[in-house]
Amino acid sequence: GFQKRYSNIDELAADAKPLLTAQAHGYYSSGSDNEWTLRENSEALSRYRLLPRMCIDVSVVDTSTVLLGQKLSAPILFAPMAQQRLCHPLGELAMARAAAAAGLPYVLSTMATSSIQEVAEAVQLPDHSSSSSSTSSSSQGAAPSRLSPASAAAGTDPCLWFQVYVMKRRDVTEWMVREVHRLGFKALVVTVDAPRLGHREVDDRNKFSLPPHLSLKNLEALTKAAGGTGDVQSSGSKFGKHFSDLFDQAVCWDTIAWLKSIAPLPLLIKGVLAPDDARRAVELGVDGIILSNHGGRQLNYAPAAVDMLPACAAAVQGRVPLLVDGGISRGTDVLKCLALGASAVLVGRPLLWALTLGGQKGVEEAIGMLKSELELSMALLGTCRLPPNPISNPAGVVAYGG
Ligand code: FNR
Repeated sequence: GFQKRYSNIDELAADAKPLLTAQAHGYYSSGSDNEWTLRENSEALSRYRLLPRMCIDVSVVDTSTVLLGQKLSAPILFAPMAQQRLCHPLGELAMARAAAAAGLPYVLSTMATSSIQEVAEAVQLPDHSSSSSSTSSSSQGAAPSRLSPASAAAGTDPCLWFQVYVMKRRDVTEWMVREVHRLGFKALVVTVDAPRLGHREVDDRNKFSLPPHLSLKNLEALTKAAGGTGDVQSSGSKFGKHFSDLFDQAVCWDTIAWLKSIAPLPLLIKGVLAPDDARRAVELGVDGIILSNHGGRQLNYAPAAVDMLPACAAAVQGRVPLLVDGGISRGTDVLKCLALGASAVLVGRPLLWALTLGGQKGVEEAIGMLKSELELSMALLGTCRLPPNPISNPAGVVAYGG
């Protein structure tokens, strides 16, 4: 198990690297331009301090929380990340099953290498052998089945969210939203920080493209379903080209209002950093905000999202939950974000390294390590419960610095 080999999930990156092609590793690990924001994400977190409180009964520590009415085993979500089959044959299916087993939400990217349907089936059907015809395309042969017992053990329902890039063809976007609702996804995340792709110099140097056996399944299915030719399946197509060809570079606030008006699910907006943008999003009726600089992959010299938390929390005034991501790999990182006003955090790259090293089981172990760090840190901080549950630490969770 990972626990024997690794002391923390930061250590996974180095061992995963040699298992990946240079192209895949470059795509996963890189940020944009000179990667200042990518480095800043972890440095910003390290500048905050946690002020522990003493003489509090911490014999029972509970890391669970409730987010948008859903019970989570910890305030941690799986960040939407494209093309997960580049690190493991089961890609998104293995990742989503690990999330369900851990009792945490999995956010599926529009740019996934598995279809919405495949992921829904991998996670939600207790035993899909009785309805196997519908997943016959699930490529690598391994049957994604029997997940329910694991998620039941976590005391939660399997929970899938879907990350949307608004397409130029609004009918395709609308179809996609209806489809994920039909398949049982619980929330939508619209990513607004990528009107175009940031300049990932490493990908340019590596001439990054998907290997021929993989494709962007959702774009393929979606354009077909909406009457298109589905030609985005063409293997080796450039990732950036899909962005400019299919996705709308003109997404504005009225687009978000439109999406909210057609969304049958809670809608979160991802990629906001400015407090005024957060306020605006709340006024339009979004159900949650994810503060993020896209893992340092979009505008370089954007601040770390964690540094924007206090001002955004003040702007939002508790009307909707604030989530945050970027560089989170420690239990104390999670606590710092909560202390600064977040309801939950998203974890990105460390999960890709875990998936590379150990598939579904590896991801479950990595999450297990992060959760036990969180639990221990809560005990040492003097906090037995997390918001919105009653907090037994009279001072709440306290962080300062930055
Ligand atoms: C991402 N991210 C991302 N975000 C999104 O909304 N849609 C997407 O398809 C992707 N794809 C993607 C691919 C890869 C390889 C990475 C590393 C990231 C951004 C992601 O959701 C998240 O914001 C950051 O990754 C969080 O930072 P850490 O945890 O990776 O430091």
